[in-house]
Amino acid sequence: MSRRALILGAKSAIAQALARRLAAEGYDLVLAARQSPQLQPFAADLRLRTGREVHLWEFEALAGEAWAELPERVQQECGEFELGVLVFGYLGDQRLAQVDSAEMERILHTNFTRPALVLSHLARYLEGRGKVGGLIAIGSVAGDRGRQSNYFYGSAKGGLALFLQGLRNRLAATPVHVLTVKPGFVDTPMTRGLEGLFLVASPDRVAGDILRAYQRRQDILYTPWFWRYIMLIIKHIPERLFKRLKL
Ligand SMILES: NC(=O)c1ccc[n+]([C@@H]2O[C@H](COP(=O)([O-])OP(=O)(O)OC[C@H]3O[C@@H](n4cnc5c(N)ncnc54)[C@H](OP(=O)(O)O)[C@@H]3O)[C@@H](O)[C@H]2O)c1
Repeated sequence: MSRRALILGAKSAIAQALARRLAAEGYDLVLAARQSPQLQPFAADLRLRTGREVHLWEFEALAGEAWAELPERVQQECGEFELGVLVFGYLGDQRLAQVDSAEMERILHTNFTRPALVLSHLARYLEGRGKVGGLIAIGSVAGDRGRQSNYFYGSAKGGLALFLQGLRNRLAATPVHVLTVKPGFVDTPMTRGLEGLFLVASPDRVAGDILRAYQRRQDILYTPWFWRYIMLIIKHIPERLFKRLKL
């Protein structure tokens, strides 16, 4: 039986690692990204290795598109899909965002408002099918506590996690599963050149964890696993002390 997944932000290193694994599991794919023709060699390689159907879809999250029509348009042009994977995100420049409204908006919209909007329409579509399906969205451990070094990005990812929690609660009585992914540091273009990184994981390890968690119908995934405990400690530091830390 063929299944299809729509991956939004498919040029991301994590998305590509996940696309390889999904195709190997028998999923046909719709790879949505901005400047999507750049994905042609990747898509051709996937088709060759796995024999799966791979479509490319032009997708700019900040464009003023008719998002409500996105799932039906994808279905019309590429076929019905059962899994929506939201991967796009933007770390941005925290210092710049503190003084520049355009950077503030770009971080908040790319990581929270647009994901919430797109996920809402994907949820409506998947629920309407009345069949087994799912949504996977990539948040971040940065969303677990506000820190001076990245609170624009962190608060947007934190908002996304709350949104997904509500969506999961709404869809719990349906066959649509919602998985929230909270990676720690991952070796991708987003983190390249940043200082102070530790316990950096490969995109492939993270993708393997995501697929396993989805197949097990897990609700929230920290990846790699130890970030659950690191964040548990960080979340429990009293605010009186936490506010003085240089984090
Ligand atoms: N790397 C980490 O340490 C880490 C940790 C925690 C969470 N995450 C999250 O993991 C997800 C994947 O990131 P990554 O690490 O794989 O980094 P990445 O390779 O830099 O991927 C980010 C992707 O988001 C896409 N994107 C950004 N703004 C967009 C927009 N307006 N419209 C469409 N696409 C847009 C980028 O597209 P272009 O290629 O066209 O620029 C890029 O492909 C993100 O949500 C990120 O926040 C990453």
